[in-house]
Amino acid sequence: MIKYVSTKGGVAPVAFDDAVLSGFAADGGLFVPDSIPTLSSEQLQQWSGLSFPDLAFELMSLFIDRSIIPAADLKKLIDDSYSAFECADVVDLVPLGGDDRLVIMELFHGPTLSFKDVAMGFLINVLDYLLEKRGERLSIVLATTGDTGPAAAWASVGKKTIDCWPLFPRGMITGEQERQMTTLNAGNVHPVGVENCANGGDDLDFVVAKLFENRDLKEKLNLSSVNSINWCRVMVQSVHYFYGYYRTVESVGDEIVFSVPSGAFGNLFGGYLARSMGLPVKSFICANNVNQALHTVFSSGVFAKKTLVPTLSSAIDIVVPYNFWRYLYFASHCDSEKLNRWMREFQQHEALKLDPDTLRAVQEGYQSVSVSDPQTVQTIRDTFDHNRGYLLDPHTAVAVAAANLLKDALPDHINIVCLATAHPAKFPEIIHRCLGVDSALPQGATHPSLEQASKVCQHLRLCDLSTLESALPHAMEMQSRGY
Ligand SMILES: Cc1ncc(COP(=O)(O)O)c(C=O)c1O
Repeated sequence: MIKYVSTKGGVAPVAFDDAVLSGFAADGGLFVPDSIPTLSSEQLQQWSGLSFPDLAFELMSLFIDRSIIPAADLKKLIDDSYSAFECADVVDLVPLGGDDRLVIMELFHGPTLSFKDVAMGFLINVLDYLLEKRGERLSIVLATTGDTGPAAAWASVGKKTIDCWPLFPRGMITGEQERQMTTLNAGNVHPVGVENCANGGDDLDFVVAKLFENRDLKEKLNLSSVNSINWCRVMVQSVHYFYGYYRTVESVGDEIVFSVPSGAFGNLFGGYLARSMGLPVKSFICANNVNQALHTVFSSGVFAKKTLVPTLSSAIDIVVPYNFWRYLYFASHCDSEKLNRWMREFQQHEALKLDPDTLRAVQEGYQSVSVSDPQTVQTIRDTFDHNRGYLLDPHTAVAVAAANLLKDALPDHINIVCLATAHPAKFPEIIHRCLGVDSALPQGATHPSLEQASKVCQHLRLCDLSTLESALPHAMEMQSRGY
């Protein structure tokens, strides 16, 4: 049976259901499988024609024991999770006309128009399934930089076992993203707009982590998290790398490159998992904006917390990419003691310098770039002009800009798949600005679901960051008592 251990090594191994229901491990570490399954080349070949849901079924079956979720139930959970997607096969691949090496992998065809839907719907369905079996309820608290919150809120609507509390940094996400959370009119979804988050989503991550450290509170409120600290999220995020690979390469076994707009390293960790399982990925391009914590660590070995700079690609305005700890754990050969030492050092000094051996291991198969706002704007404009009006959202534009900067250094027979992580309609003002103040917004920058949400009253709680840590548990208790 596959077991899950904490990256900090301080808890006994647990089964999949316990890892997923608790979110964080009790020692504050992140859950990882005790070993990563590897695929034979025959298996890799056999799965090449599978649909996205069938591929997800095969891959998830490697991480979830049948005694916890029997095959028929797993299949139904997967099918239900993708039934609301607008694209027939969940994910679409679009070659960029101007450059035959670049392919856009559109991951934003789910109900809230970002790649978060790809894994979140499944995670919430799995939580609901496990909780119903146990006769329990959970309160999920999550921090969002604009896309995780809507995905979790949408997936939670009507789930009798779940109360969903998305926390968002007020004024630092778009109005469209805010309304996706605040217009659902569901009794179990409780969005909280948090004022004065100088460090954006990182401030909220910090408060969420503190709530989880308080074990009494965690038990009393039955708390869990669906941020990508939850193993299930990163596990499902490995599927789109396989799918994108199969739909792009000429023959299975060819190498590929993925360019990934990165914030907390959750999506890239899914890629790491896929490659560790045997997917032939030559390299991942870690595409940062000017909040370049990941680019700095990949290029210099220094992992440091810097002041947040608000950018056009706001969902990746992250200063502490918490999933990087998960990657460091594997890059240091699963050495929990080392990881604990590094985490303590980081907590004390807000920085740490990796030793040369670890840095070499970390860099293997990764390239990184930091993309500025002017480069993002130019990329949106150029892509629109040279691809018959094809629109990139600002995050996808960061990935495309990074791919353009690095492609000449890559062998020219290798395709570069750029992950399109959000629909441009979530960022109409930015698109408008990129295309010029006089032009009308193209149809691709609108979406009926967002137009509908703009006509409905919003329902949310407001709170200042300075009081969130005490005010949130109070609000949760009052809610659970029916006030
Ligand atoms: C649109 C978009 N792109 C990219 C990312 C970055 O993903 P990750 O935090 O997993 O690196 C996010 C995450 O918030 C996002 O919403």
